[in-house]
Parts: sequence; structure tokens; C-alpha cells
Amino acid sequence: MPLLIRPAEPAEFGAVADLCVAAYAPFVDADQDGYADVLRDVAARAAAAEVLVAEADGELLGTITFVPDGGALGEIAEAGEAEFRMLAVAPAGQGRGVGTALMRHVLDETARRGRTGLVCSSQPAMRAAHRVYERLGFRRDPRRDWSPVPGVDLIAFAWRPLPDHARRNQVSWDAEAANYVEAARRNWAASKISWGTWDVPEAEIGALPPADGLDVIELGCGTAYVSAWLARRGARPVGVDLSAKQLETARAMQAEHGLAFPLHHASAEDVPLPDAGFDLAVSEYGASLWCDPDAWVAEAARLLRPGGLLVFLTNSLIATLCSPDTGPAGERLVRDQRGLRAVTYPDDDAVEFHLAHGEWIATLARHGFAVEALHELYAPPGADPARFEWVTPEWARRWPHEELWRARKA
Ligand SMILES: C[S@@+](CC[C@H](N)C(=O)[O-])C[C@H]1O[C@@H](n2cnc3c(N)ncnc32)[C@H](O)[C@@H]1O
Repeated sequence: MPLLIRPAEPAEFGAVADLCVAAYAPFVDADQDGYADVLRDVAARAAAAEVLVAEADGELLGTITFVPDGGALGEIAEAGEAEFRMLAVAPAGQGRGVGTALMRHVLDETARRGRTGLVCSSQPAMRAAHRVYERLGFRRDPRRDWSPVPGVDLIAFAWRPLPDHARRNQVSWDAEAANYVEAARRNWAASKISWGTWDVPEAEIGALPPADGLDVIELGCGTAYVSAWLARRGARPVGVDLSAKQLETARAMQAEHGLAFPLHHASAEDVPLPDAGFDLAVSEYGASLWCDPDAWVAEAARLLRPGGLLVFLTNSLIATLCSPDTGPAGERLVRDQRGLRAVTYPDDDAVEFHLAHGEWIATLARHGFAVEALHELYAPPGADPARFEWVTPEWARRWPHEELWRARKA
């Protein structure tokens, strides 16, 4: 059944009104301040905004009112934001993805028209709709909860388009995920904690605190083996990743190993979890490499309790400075250190972030962290050629390939 989303025709306004009134009936008191009349007034909505319908085989299955520019129908949108109202699905459309398709349409329109976000208000009891919003990346925005009339309390949701680098990295990691399944299997099966390309044992470094009883957030968890290692040691991990495909692998590993913990599909630059819920934030080549440093370090600071620890692994500064556009790191500096931040490679659409050490220390300090340690990781003697071609074992025995930072929130 191909679903067509299109503007409602004036001749359909009566049918759209009936659909709205029926869908809202369980939530709206028939006499409540004339809201049923508001729902029925499709012509007024079409005059002030865009009333869309979902249709299949000539049957009207759902509707949504898209308010791209505020005006009479704007309720909580701020400058530059779009809003939507009166999402309704007919009984015949339920369980067929109609609500999601309408929402995706307005999300695409929001991005296409360059709006800075999309917002809506909803009744607290409309939980099925809230699940759809959250699946599509909306976040609760309690700051904008409001009450149009006494006794009616509405809760607000907001969605923001991903920044360009995050969208590119999401596409790139969804495409790459299949190449990381084998590493996921190997790492989930490993009993010891180790770091990075050369499997440097945590026992030799001591970057992590004793895990037992800790609430841990893994930012850019990918296949989530670091979380799995910590869970086996008594921690309560929660993983966050932007790639649905990487999270599919993580879920498959959880099922195989009988080890469940929450995984959130979200950007580590904008995590849908409350403040101060964690003792340890960890990232192994996740947010630490693929997120804007100020954005994800600010989120780590927000998510940690006072005194919480941030431990993250990323490429070393010297490896980055010695990495040409193609081929492995060499023995010459080929990139400027001054201004180092977003780095792209010609054969890859993804965006990495690298900072010089002084910039890392300043970034961490800006967000309330004090550095406790910087471990520079080398390849051990006799290391096998790595899975990756961009640093050879010979190079990584002479210069540190990776950096493991440990910083504490004040
Ligand atoms: C090399 S993996 C590292 C994770 C884990 N150690 C692993 O190897 O599976 C990089 C991960 O960062 C994730 N990532 C990239 N940008 C992200 C963002 N903005 N928010 C959350 N995760 C992100 C990718 O989707 C990918 O799963």
C-alpha cells in the first residue's frame, strides 16, 4: 500500500475534521473549552498553515498540520523553528506506520526549509504519540511545557536537525557497521579490558576506577563492548550511539551473551538523558573522535555527577600530524598543529575531530574537568600488523598512536 502524503483538498476538510475529532476523543473532554470545534475547523488551519493528509488507495488514513513559520497556529515555536499540530491517525491507519510517515514528512520539510528545529505540545496521556516522537529523535523540552487553559497541561517536545558533521558521520557509520561485526564478536568474547588498536591491557594502565556499582555512560558506544566489560565487573552501563546499524550489532551481542543494558540511538552531542546520573563517562574512539569536542565534553560534564570521571581514547596528536591524506602515518609532520580541529580525508565523507594537547586541556577545563592523566599508548613489542592500514606496528612502537585521557569533574 503506497502511502501518499499531500496537502488536504478543501473538499476533504470535513473528512479531516471527523478524523481529528475521532482520534482525539479519548483525550479531549467533549465540552472542554470548545476544543472539538477547534479540531473541526480545518479551513482555518489550512488558511494559517499547511494541513497535510496521508492517503492510501483513495482512503484518508491520517493528518498533520505543519506550521513552518509561526503565525496564528504557532504555540511554542521560537524564532526560526517550525511546529506541528493535530497529528491524527484514523483507526484504519493504525499500526501501519501512518503517524511515523506524517512525522517524517514534516521533519524532512523542516530540514529542507532551513528551520532550526521542530516542536510540538502534547497531552501527557498521548503516550503512543510520544513513543513515535522519541523514536524519531524528539526530546522532551520541559522548559516549554505550558497550559493553554486552566486544567489542561501540555508537555513540549523538540527536535533539532543534526549538525552537518554528525549527519555525515551517521551515514558513514551505518555504511561501515558491517565491517565492525567481527571486532565486536572478538571484543565481547574477551574477558580482559584492553585499549585501542594494540589491545593495551587496562591492567597495565589503570585509567578506569573499580567498576562495581558505578553508573556508566558510554558516549559513541558503537558495538558497546566497553560497556559489556564494565557490566561484567558490576557497573550499570548505558550506551549512546548515532548509528542504528552499530546499535543493531550491539543488541545482537547483548542477546548472544545474555547481557542487557540500555542503548540509546542519539548523538553524544545531545544525549536524551537527565543531568548528573552517572559516575563514569567513557568513550573509546566514539564521541572522542567523531564529535565536536566542546559539544560532547559539555554533555559528558552535564551527565556526570560531581566528582565523576571522564575517560576517553582517541588518536594521538602526533599520529594525526603525521597522517597524510592517503596511506599510513609517516615520519614527517604533514598537517599543521595550529588550528587543528575538524579533519577530513579525501576518500571518506566522515569528519574526525583532533585537538592539540593544550586545546584538550583548555576544552576540558572550560567544561569543569581537571586532567588527572594522559596515557600515551604505543604498540607492544611483537605486535601483529593492525587491522587498520593507517598506522604500522613499526611506527606505533616508536611514537604513541593513541591517547587515553582521564579527567575529573569538579
Ligand atoms: C570506532 S566506533 C567506536 C565505538 C566502539 N568502541 C566500537 O569500536 O564499536 C565509533 C562510533 O562512534 C559513533 N558516533 C559517531 N558520531 C557520533 C555521535 N555524534 N554521537 C554518538 N555516536 C557517534 C559511530 O556511530 C560509531 O559507532
